[in-house]
Amino acid sequence: MTGLSTLLAGISYPSCVMNASGAWSGTHQELRELAASATGAVVIKTTTTQARVEDVKGCGIENPGQSYYLAVLAELRATGKPIVGSVAGFTTAVQIGSALMKEGPGVFARIEQELRAERTTHATDA
Ligand SMILES: Cc1cc2nc3c(=O)[nH]c(=O)nc-3n(C[C@H](O)[C@H](O)[C@H](O)COP(=O)(O)O)c2cc1C
Repeated sequence: MTGLSTLLAGISYPSCVMNASGAWSGTHQELRELAASATGAVVIKTTTTQARVEDVKGCGIENPGQSYYLAVLAELRATGKPIVGSVAGFTTAVQIGSALMKEGPGVFARIEQELRAERTTHATDA
């Protein structure tokens, strides 16, 4: 019997079909709707330590900051679906620190880090 469930890096996903980061996952409302859908995981929009915008609009690194997404995590987690975080920073240290901060509450199944070269050559996070 075949199915859509899968195991990735030791994490069990009820379905291998899930959203891309930021695709219907930028606002609390979108995340709630996503979590209530048949998605195999909730992949949150990429966040930086500090907010870069107040309101999420479309594609890009502009985001309301980690605290905005941390505020809705417990609610998302209650659905039982794996939650996948995506963090960005302008130094590797900030990226790792951000990932650890998110893992602290033990709510993330996996941390996806943005390790693009152009983001590691800048001296400061924003
Ligand atoms: C509205 C919107 C927001 C997005 N935000 C992010 C983001 O925060 N982080 C990220 O890595 N990709 C972001 N993306 C890119 C998507 O994750 C995905 O890579 C892109 O849509 C290409 O998907 P495809 O390869 O299935 O066509 C965003 C895309 C859209 C449409």
